[in-house]
Amino acid sequence: MRRLTPEAVRFLSGPAAQAELAALAGEPLDPLATVAALRKRWGEDEAAWLYDQARLRLRARGKFPEAGALLFEAEALEQASAGPVARWRAEQVFGPYERVADLGAGIGGDALALAAAGKRVRAVERDPVRAAILEHNAAALGLADRIEVVTGDWRALALDVDAAFADPARRSGGRRTVRLEAMEPPIRDLERLARRLPALAVKLAPALDKSELPPGAGLGFVSLAGELKEALAGFGELAAPEPWAVALPAGVRLLGPEGPERTGPVGNYLYEPDPAVIRAGLVRRLAAELDAWQLDAQVAYLSADEPRSTPLVRGWRVLEHGPFRQKTAAAWLAAHGAGGVEVKRRRSPVEPAVLEKKLRAALVPGGPTLTLFLTRIAGRSWAVLGRRP
Ligand SMILES: C[S@@+](CC[C@H](N)C(=O)[O-])C[C@H]1O[C@@H](n2cnc3c(N)ncnc32)[C@H](O)[C@@H]1O
Repeated sequence: MRRLTPEAVRFLSGPAAQAELAALAGEPLDPLATVAALRKRWGEDEAAWLYDQARLRLRARGKFPEAGALLFEAEALEQASAGPVARWRAEQVFGPYERVADLGAGIGGDALALAAAGKRVRAVERDPVRAAILEHNAAALGLADRIEVVTGDWRALALDVDAAFADPARRSGGRRTVRLEAMEPPIRDLERLARRLPALAVKLAPALDKSELPPGAGLGFVSLAGELKEALAGFGELAAPEPWAVALPAGVRLLGPEGPERTGPVGNYLYEPDPAVIRAGLVRRLAAELDAWQLDAQVAYLSADEPRSTPLVRGWRVLEHGPFRQKTAAAWLAAHGAGGVEVKRRRSPVEPAVLEKKLRAALVPGGPTLTLFLTRIAGRSWAVLGRRP
């Protein structure tokens, strides 16, 4: 991709470039033919910038529903929060606050969501290209009067706001990092900031080492469509006293503390907790709320005899279960007329893809796809065959 400059962003923001981008939206994009066609009307740099933006708009659609009106930069787009997560954070986490700072705002994944939720946003970004893109994006969405874009390092600013959000860059020397001290800026700068503000929330990698968090910080985990997306640390008024998990897009939240241990046999239903619940260490709390039990104290599979419906679990009707043997599993699949099999495991050494291949011979065309869970119960390797209701 052609390197962007603030001048390039100014060009791309202009009416002629915007009209060209709108025209490109319906066209197939070919790196040779499209650029050659653009070169008839534009200089070499301009043609490359336009082509890159057209590609980035396509790539951005999953994260930004309004991508067709916005500008992007490749790495900043990759780092941007997904739309539903940014919206939830703006509305639920920052709900009570009016003036919110977005520290390290990038191209605006969070700043735009905060402004759309009615906040007055001070968006600080030290990269001038990203800051210029954010200016464009705010104007394109009619949010310019709610977002003040400041180009610079937020550590040098007096932040007169009610609350702040920080999304530190998690790359160090071009590589991804989960170490809180290796983030840009590092956790110690955020800890210092937290002492000056009533409320601060910091987005972190879900794989963070919890022991690196400063004492007194709250911590929760966020999933979207069953995929673990991020950790969110809270300071001051935003420091929840117990760990929490939230499953989006439903927005259902589970708050600690962890529940009492309850284990039991495989019942009529098997439940897989949402990954945010597992990462927050709240599997037993979830079991207690669902009146369910764990199959083994070390295993994050729950069971119950009645169906449970909550976005915090995925459930399967149990068809068979017993000690795991490949032959038995194949016989179960054949007996239930399975047309496909998905193997899932917790605390089992068996490779799901390898076993799925070996079980193919037991399948019949047209049958339902069933799920084979492999796990350990009381030290024995156990299998459960289930069907999604
Ligand atoms: C992970 S990105 C933010 C993404 C943004 N939340 C979004 O959803 O689009 C982090 C940004 O912080 C910026 N940054 C890092 N340290 C900064 C600092 N001290 N002051 C201002 N910006 C900073 C980086 O340039 C980068 O664009």
